Amino acid sequence: MRHAKATTAMLATKQAENFSAISLVSIRPERAYDAHAIERLCDSVFGPGAQARAAAALREGVAHDIALSFVATLDAAIIGTCRLTPVIWGGVRIMMLGPLGVSRAHMSTGIGRKLMSASLEAADAAGEEIVFLVGDLAYYAPSGFSRVAPSRISLPRPVDPSRVLAREAVEGVSTQISGPVIRAL
Ligand SMILES: CC(C)(COP(=O)(O)OP(=O)(O)OC[C@H]1O[C@@H](n2cnc3c(N)ncnc32)[C@H](O)[C@@H]1OP(=O)(O)O)[C@@H](O)C(=O)NCCC(=O)NCCS
Repeated sequence: MRHAKATTAMLATKQAENFSAISLVSIRPERAYDAHAIERLCDSVFGPGAQARAAAALREGVAHDIALSFVATLDAAIIGTCRLTPVIWGGVRIMMLGPLGVSRAHMSTGIGRKLMSASLEAADAAGEEIVFLVGDLAYYAPSGFSRVAPSRISLPRPVDPSRVLAREAVEGVSTQISGPVIRAL
């Protein structure tokens, strides 16, 4: 009985610690001076293979839209990033979401979803009608993403077609678009 009470008390303390750590996390717009910290975070979260991926090829040499990009900070350190970068799909300029990354020590505490919401709300407010990404549907579907039919889209490097997702600000706005996704140079 005493053991059960002690365990419950320890759990409550742990939960309180987690809660207070999470409550100190801020989501704020990205600033130019964040660039190095974001690069370091992405290196540690995504590892060395990241540059070989289709999304990285689409970002190469293209500036992300800093007004639609957000960071998560804890004690002034950057622990999460979400960027949007313009790309061209079938001749239409749209936005690509990513990288979305959260430091390993802070994963699964809701930061990724908050960052994504901040970027998507900013994109909606800016009149961006379509946001595309390569990622897991299970994670992105609750934020409005769904699969793009492989017949309507091709990427500069091979990807699992089930990971090619898009979110429309207005339902049906992307149905007329098809073709390759290329860099927005
Ligand atoms: C994916 C990532 C951004 C999510 O951010 P996060 O702050 O850890 O996640 P959140 O707290 O917002 O959401 C956590 C939930 O998402 C789920 N989740 C995380 N990654 C997932 C994935 N790839 N597919 C499905 N579900 C996923 C978790 O299991 C968790 O579920 P639960 O709440 O039921 O336990 C983060 O884990 C990360 O940086 N991962 C490594 C880099 C990466 O894969 N980025 C995405 C590239 S497409």
